[in-house]
Amino acid sequence: MAFSVSTRELESEISSLLQSGVAGNISDFVSWIRMEIQKKFKDEALLSEKDVANFLEKLKSEGELVSGQFDAREYFLASNSKFHKKVQSSDRFFILGRLDFSPLQYVKTRLEYFLRRNSVSEDEIIDISIATLEAVENAAKYGDGTSVEVEYSIDRAKVFTISLLNNIKDFDLEDDIKRGKFSSTATLMRGMMVMQKLFTSVDLEILDDKKQASFKATKQLAK
Ligand SMILES: Nc1ncnc2c1ncn2[C@@H]1O[C@H](COP(=O)(O)OP(=O)(O)OP(=O)(O)O)[C@@H](O)[C@H]1O
Ligand SMILES: [Mg+2]
Repeated sequence: MAFSVSTRELESEISSLLQSGVAGNISDFVSWIRMEIQKKFKDEALLSEKDVANFLEKLKSEGELVSGQFDAREYFLASNSKFHKKVQSSDRFFILGRLDFSPLQYVKTRLEYFLRRNSVSEDEIIDISIATLEAVENAAKYGDGTSVEVEYSIDRAKVFTISLLNNIKDFDLEDDIKRGKFSSTATLMRGMMVMQKLFTSVDLEILDDKKQASFKATKQLAK
């Protein structure tokens, strides 16, 4: 069975995506609507990319959205858009770790929006964003494609804390050897090195009994 998304549902899904702060091109929004339908109804969504494009263009012509600064095909909230919500000091959601749902772009833009709204400097936003993408990529790559919990906050001491929780895909040693993870010449653990450089603290715990990986990192922000 597949779930057919009506125009009304489609517009309401796009509106709530925009309120969460994500930004992307038409195909990102299509992927995220499909992800939301999969999360809610455990079903594949049937939807028209043309309808998504039309609604985004309509919002742009009404002044709610603007084109991305670096990629004009991307849609971002206009500074006075009705989709901005009150600034929150924490955010929590879950994504599905399947690359066809465009989870990296989702987390990147939602996180950058959160940091910008909390007046974090552009330099710190870049560092946090790069490091977080390494962690999300791992959660998708080593996860079983199901839910990845994402949670982050900024406390009064200006410490940014992020945690991710994913289920671990069945370990395939042969596969790892083939792609060179254990070869002596390949550079290993580049992701963890990047994270250690850009975060103040990094911790990855493998919860063997639950077959889950729990990632936590912090960064002291400039005061
Ligand atoms: N979310 C996770 N779930 C399960 N295992 C993980 C997770 N994150 C990291 N790991 C384990 O820790 C190892 C180190 O991760 P790291 O990102 O440094 O390297 P990599 O992903 O193997 O390669 P690279 O990031 O350089 O492409 C991984 O190979 C994997 O075995
Ligand atoms: Mg990695």
